[in-house]
Amino acid sequence: MPEVTVTEHILLHQKRSPHATGQFTGLLYDLILSGKSISRRINAAGLLDILGGTGEVNVQGENVQKMDQIANRQLIYRMERCGALCAMASEEEADFIPVPDDFPQGDYILIFDPLDGSSNIDVNINVGTIFSILRRKPGKKGPVTLDEVLQPGSRQVAAGYILYGPSTMLVFTTGQGVHGFTLDPGVGEFLLSHPDMTIPEQGRIYSVNEGNSLYWDDAVRECVDYFKGCENSLGKPYSSRYVGSLVADFHRTLLYGGIYMYPRDSRKPGGKLRLMCEAAPMAFLAEQAGGRASNGFQRIMDVVPDKLHARTQLFIGSPRDVEAVERIHAKYGK
Ligand code: AHG
Ligand code: MN
Ligand code: MN
Repeated sequence: MPEVTVTEHILLHQKRSPHATGQFTGLLYDLILSGKSISRRINAAGLLDILGGTGEVNVQGENVQKMDQIANRQLIYRMERCGALCAMASEEEADFIPVPDDFPQGDYILIFDPLDGSSNIDVNINVGTIFSILRRKPGKKGPVTLDEVLQPGSRQVAAGYILYGPSTMLVFTTGQGVHGFTLDPGVGEFLLSHPDMTIPEQGRIYSVNEGNSLYWDDAVRECVDYFKGCENSLGKPYSSRYVGSLVADFHRTLLYGGIYMYPRDSRKPGGKLRLMCEAAPMAFLAEQAGGRASNGFQRIMDVVPDKLHARTQLFIGSPRDVEAVERIHAKYGK
C-alpha cells in the first residue's frame, strides 16, 4: 500500500470540506510539528535533566512536571506564530492567551492539554497531548473575549491527540471520521496507519480509578458493579484496565471498545477532567468513531463551559456501554 503522509491526507480532506482554507491546514501542520518536537524530547527524557517536578503547582492545584512546562512552552511558542489563531488556552495557564498583536492573527482558537498523564512520565508510561480547535464566531474582530472561548464541544472544528507511546501516534478528526497516523521516526513524518477508526458497538473492558471508590456516589457504584458483574449485556464480568493517562486509556477504548470513566466523587464533586481540553476533544473523537461520551446525564458535546477550566465527570466509549451508564444515572437523578 502506498504511504499516505498526514499532510497529504489533510490536503485531500480539506478539498472536500466546505470551510477549506489554507489557514486551517497551516494550523494543523504547525500543531503536528510541535507534537514531533515534544515527542523527541520525551523519547530522550531519561537522558536529559527533564524528568521530575518543577516544584510549582499549576492553576489546577496539581504539581507541574518539567515536561509539562516544556510541552506547554513549545506549543505556545510555535502556535502563536502560526497565523491561524486569535487565541489559545492551555491546561497549564490560568487565563486564555490572546495571540499578541505583533503576530499574524487568524480565525481559530486552540485549546490544549500540553502533556496529559504527566504523572506517568517519570516511569516511562504513555503520555499525550490533547487538542481542540474552535472557530471564532463569524464577523468577530478585535481582541478576543472569554465568552468567545467558552464554546461547547459541538462547535469544535477539529480535535485529537498525539500519543507518546511505544510509537508516537496522531489521532484526529475534522468531523469526517477519525484517522490515526504513526510517526516514522526515520523520516520524521506521520503516516496513515489507522484510516476510519471505529469503536466497537460494545466492549469487554472497563477503565476507572477504583482507588476512589470509597468516595463515589451510589450511581457510580452501580455502574462499576454493572461492568464487574454478570447482569450486563455481555453476561460476564468485563476486564479492568487503567493506565492513568486519559490519552492512553482513551486510545485503547477507541481500538478495543469498552468504557472509560472518570466519575465525580465526594472529594471532586465536579469531576476531575477538564471539559474543554480533555473531555470535549475526546467526545468529538468518540462520536466520530461511532461511540458516545456523556457526563452521566447529558452528551458532553452539548455542555457549555461556564469557565475556562470547568471540570466534568466523563463516561466515554462504546455506545452500548455508555448507554448503560446513562440508564443507571437516570434512575438516581442528578
Ligand atoms: P494531566 O496529567 O494532564 O493533569 O491529566 C491527568 C488526568 C488524566 O490524564 C488521567 O486520566 C487522570 O488525570 C488520572 O487521574 P487519577 O490519577 O486521579 O486516576
Ligand atoms: Mn490531562
Ligand atoms: Mn496536562
